Amino acid sequence: MNYLPFAGKTAIVTGAGTGIGFEIAKHLVLDGAAVVINDLDPDLAHYAADQLNTEEDQRAFALPGDAGNVDFIREMVEFASDIPDHRLEMVVANAGLTEFGDFFDFAPESFEKVVNLNLRGSFFLAQTAARKMKDGGHGGNIVLIGSNVGERAYPNLAAYGMSKAGISMLVKQLTLPLGPLGISVNCVSPGATLTERTALEEDDYAGIWAKLNPNQRVGRPEDVAHTVSFILNPASRHITGQTLLVDGGWTATGPTPDLIQRAEKGFPELGKKLNGNKAPSINGHRMAAR
Ligand SMILES: NC(=O)c1ccc[n+]([C@@H]2O[C@H](COP(=O)([O-])OP(=O)(O)OC[C@H]3O[C@@H](n4cnc5c(N)ncnc54)[C@H](O)[C@@H]3O)[C@@H](O)[C@H]2O)c1
Repeated sequence: MNYLPFAGKTAIVTGAGTGIGFEIAKHLVLDGAAVVINDLDPDLAHYAADQLNTEEDQRAFALPGDAGNVDFIREMVEFASDIPDHRLEMVVANAGLTEFGDFFDFAPESFEKVVNLNLRGSFFLAQTAARKMKDGGHGGNIVLIGSNVGERAYPNLAAYGMSKAGISMLVKQLTLPLGPLGISVNCVSPGATLTERTALEEDDYAGIWAKLNPNQRVGRPEDVAHTVSFILNPASRHITGQTLLVDGGWTATGPTPDLIQRAEKGFPELGKKLNGNKAPSINGHRMAAR
């Protein structure tokens, strides 16, 4: 018989219509959870839920809305709490906005958009869900999705990097109010991961990152989803307040001579930039990490 670690539990996954969030939701459904599939785009939310439901088994619930909006967050937590035969015990604040821009020209509107979704959305989703878990008198498990760019500076991502670093600090802070309630809270930080979005950013996104990452491969959504499932598993209950990087070793290293050689072979332009002791960048700021 298959062991389903999340049977009887409900999870909320924000930004789950595509990309990493969809893969996280898929893993949780396959492992027995009922999952609220949130996405800003209603079509994507419904399409994603339809893909995860079968005629016999319907545990994916589409809930379109803005994961940065506190009123909507409250509705979402109520909705999740009302799913029959399941209890809201898991939350994954995955929706995040990457806004590139030169520091000197970065507009207040862009700053607000990034901070609103990445920080405000994560903070108030954690708060609202944790209140529910506290009122229910049971524990829970909250994962906030960060980024490797919250650990290492990256060109043209000052606001984004700052917001993701803030998430890593937030999970440390939250161990204090949530630990005594049996609620774990951790940050999972992907490195460059091949998704529908990032695939459009570079012609050979996967190939470039296979050159840049010490383990010589690009991240895949399932790499992140496995890690989130590991953290959410009840057996991981003693892990809290941590940031776990899923980045092929990128954050652990700086450009090494052999990396520069490999880069020069396949990407002369990239090699030149690395030799010039600059952070990797192709086509100016369009070279995306996170
Ligand atoms: N893909 C990467 O390389 C990478 C690297 C590091 C960190 N991350 C982080 O991982 C998370 C997921 O990344 P991704 O690349 O899969 O995301 P993505 O940009 O592809 O977006 C995934 C989904 O989020 C939805 N979304 C956007 N704004 C929303 C909002 N306000 N409310 C609800 N849904 C919203 C989009 O419609 C989309 O379907 C993000 O937090 C991102 O910062 C991604």
